[in-house]
Amino acid sequence: METVRLARHGEIAIATIDNPPVNALGQALRADLARVIADVGSDPAVAAIVIAAVGRAFIAGADISEFGKPPVAPLLPDLLDAIENCPKPVVAAIQGVALGGGLELALACHGRVGSASASFGQPEIKLGLIPGAGGTQRLPRLIGAAQAFPMMLSGEPIPASRALQLGLVDDVADGDVVAAAMALARALAARGAPEPVRDMTARLTAADREAFEAQALAATKTSGEMPDAMALIEAVRGVFTLPFTEGLAAERALFVKLVADPRSRALRHVFFAEREIARVPGIGADVKPRAIAKAAVIGAGTMGGGIAMCFANAGIPVTLIEQEQAQIDNGMNRVAAIYEMSVTRGSLSPEKRDERLALITPALGLDAAADADVVIEAAFEEMGVKQQIFGALDAIAKPGAILASNTSYLDIPTIAAATKRPQDVLGMHFFSPANVMKLLEVVRPDGVSDEAVVTAMALGRRLGKVPVVVGNGFGFVGNRMLEARTRATERLLVAGALPHEVDAALTGFGFKMGPCAMADLAGNDIGWRSRKARGKTAAVADAICEAGWFGQKTGRGYFLYPDGARSGLRDPEVEALIARISEEQGANRRSFKSDEILSRLLDPMVNEGARILEEGIAVRPGDIDVIWLNGYNWPAWRGGPMHWADSVGLDILVARLEAQAAEMGDATLEPAPLLRRLAAEGKGFADLKATTI
Ligand code: 3HC
Repeated sequence: METVRLARHGEIAIATIDNPPVNALGQALRADLARVIADVGSDPAVAAIVIAAVGRAFIAGADISEFGKPPVAPLLPDLLDAIENCPKPVVAAIQGVALGGGLELALACHGRVGSASASFGQPEIKLGLIPGAGGTQRLPRLIGAAQAFPMMLSGEPIPASRALQLGLVDDVADGDVVAAAMALARALAARGAPEPVRDMTARLTAADREAFEAQALAATKTSGEMPDAMALIEAVRGVFTLPFTEGLAAERALFVKLVADPRSRALRHVFFAEREIARVPGIGADVKPRAIAKAAVIGAGTMGGGIAMCFANAGIPVTLIEQEQAQIDNGMNRVAAIYEMSVTRGSLSPEKRDERLALITPALGLDAAADADVVIEAAFEEMGVKQQIFGALDAIAKPGAILASNTSYLDIPTIAAATKRPQDVLGMHFFSPANVMKLLEVVRPDGVSDEAVVTAMALGRRLGKVPVVVGNGFGFVGNRMLEARTRATERLLVAGALPHEVDAALTGFGFKMGPCAMADLAGNDIGWRSRKARGKTAAVADAICEAGWFGQKTGRGYFLYPDGARSGLRDPEVEALIARISEEQGANRRSFKSDEILSRLLDPMVNEGARILEEGIAVRPGDIDVIWLNGYNWPAWRGGPMHWADSVGLDILVARLEAQAAEMGDATLEPAPLLRRLAAEGKGFADLKATTI
């Protein structure tokens, strides 16, 4: 057998699962396990069976890549049925994570022993699903519905100690978990067939049902009637209202329906895309990252301070560098105030705050970067400033140090040209607030070494970020697409939509904030300054800034923020100003439906994404999706802009963009060649292969 090794210790058979990387229950493993159960179950020399596993996971669940494809026997529920009905006791020896179908398999066994480091969870909800192999029926029978439901609703795993308290496992082994499972297996065999979980009713009391119904009601209110949460409630309720086999059938029907739901498809796409980003085309696994023991950050502004906090939070000593005492004092005070806020909120202990602050050393002058293994420049966004800093760093930084710029837009090779070591210079683009946002764009210009790229990626992961390699080009990936959306907002306002309508279309789609509220929060003056520097204009946005309405910080922007309000109110003056600009531009203002606004905001972004792929600035459409999910709050269940485009249909997008381009007389809205080609071939972005930057 390929995925299971069978051994005998006297009367005990041990089936050891070895299906790297995480023992997912793909078809081959299911078939091998089914054969083991059938063989040893009928072998008179075997008294009991232990199912064990090697690797970091006991079983990470069903094989997610099989979802949506035609199922191939044996199906997981049938395998679990065979385990539960095996005439010999079956005991699970759980040495790592038991997730999803992995936990369901353990629940079908007659006994469960965990190692002290094992953990247990039903994370299906994170994929827009519910347990589909008996989890909703067996877990409540074993530990009570009021304990099981919150585990399945949050998807968060619990540690072995908690599993023991709940009665999810019979024992937690301090030492050899397989030996402990063998001991339990022998005891069960001696005692005669134990009661399968399916027949347990002791925990399903009236009090348990009442507590579960209260949780279900609360979930209905907070989950906004999400289909997965609603299906979970329905399935779990079945333990009180249906016989086991009917409850199981009802669960399966709900599960199958959810697998086909676009939300789950999107979340599964995200699961794989977030793992795929680690594979950088053209760089082999033999390229190893350099060691990073010390860091330096240049510039103690909001970004620099936030980046320094990322290092401190990861336990890496960091020097925060400024030119003048007042600037460094301000920067350190800002960092201390953010930590203090976490202490007040109770999310950080005072001891941890002190530890983290002690890891940040304030310093004056670039010489303080001399012993750093990585230097991140977060100074003023101006090429001259950056070149001066990198020129100076070239003489100061130790050989092999990674020299990174946090620039949002500037050309990395021009910055690198100020040094004699372009092989070590790249972009590490953090997103604001840097200590919170997960996204890190690792900008890989021509001339940088593979080792430097791999080091930046590994460092990003150590900092708790989601690092994505992008090519060098104005705005890289995220901000370049954001700019396409900003231009689309401006076009919509001039054509007749109002700020609150534009925002409502996007929040209705699932974003937390629309583009106008977001600009008001970030400060409208930021985009204004950047446009002026590039000789660009945006009539509405410029006029709002010229009036001094920079957003929340000035009490008004696209919206009004009376008395420091966080969410804006409609502003008749802004609406009048927009109407005036429309008139000046000869636009015939008309009303827009929400769907139309949405497509006018998102289609141009996808079009820009297609150009970004054509130019090799992003290697995969999935990378673009990961960027938008982690840096711009794109709703995960929509899968990211490129996945969303596939779900709409690229032929539809092409037609809509052509119509917009004609109506607006704007050639930039013409569909990108890649978009046209894929649409003509009846394909989606998902059909593209990764390219080398
Ligand atoms: N199916 C298919 N592939 C899986 C998988 C799964 N359930 N779980 C992990 N993988 C793959 C990953 O894609 C990755 O592949 P790659 O190396 O080719 O990119 C590899 O295994 C390693 O995964 P991670 O990088 O995530 O490894 P970590 O060590 O960081 O994490 C883990 C391990 C905690 C097991 C994590 O992978 C995880 O959370 N997996 C998903 C668990 C899950 O959601 N299970 C439920 C599945 S649905 C189900 O069981 C339905 C059932 O009720 C019928």
